[in-house]
Amino acid sequence: MIQVTFITNDHKTVTAPENSNLLRVSLREKGGIPFKCGGGLCGTCKCRIERGQDQTDEVKAKERKHLSEAQLAEGYRMACQTFLRGDVAVSW
Ligand code: FES
Repeated sequence: MIQVTFITNDHKTVTAPENSNLLRVSLREKGGIPFKCGGGLCGTCKCRIERGQDQTDEVKAKERKHLSEAQLAEGYRMACQTFLRGDVAVSW
């Protein structure tokens, strides 16, 4: 199991299986990351991986439509497109 900390939601911390989708964890555990489409289109789920960037999977083409190279370098991702290999802390 891995740990996900929702910094913007009072540092709420939950556990989830490895390779979980970040938005799904947020929905299941009431983490609070905003979303609309859940399918990589709207960009609403933009968030920043504050800790554990190296524990996330590769950036998808859909994310590059909403996030600049500079934002990606700063740890921004789209939660619905991000899968977790290890512990992360996320803000939005
Ligand atoms: S919820 Fe719409 S892009 Fe992620």
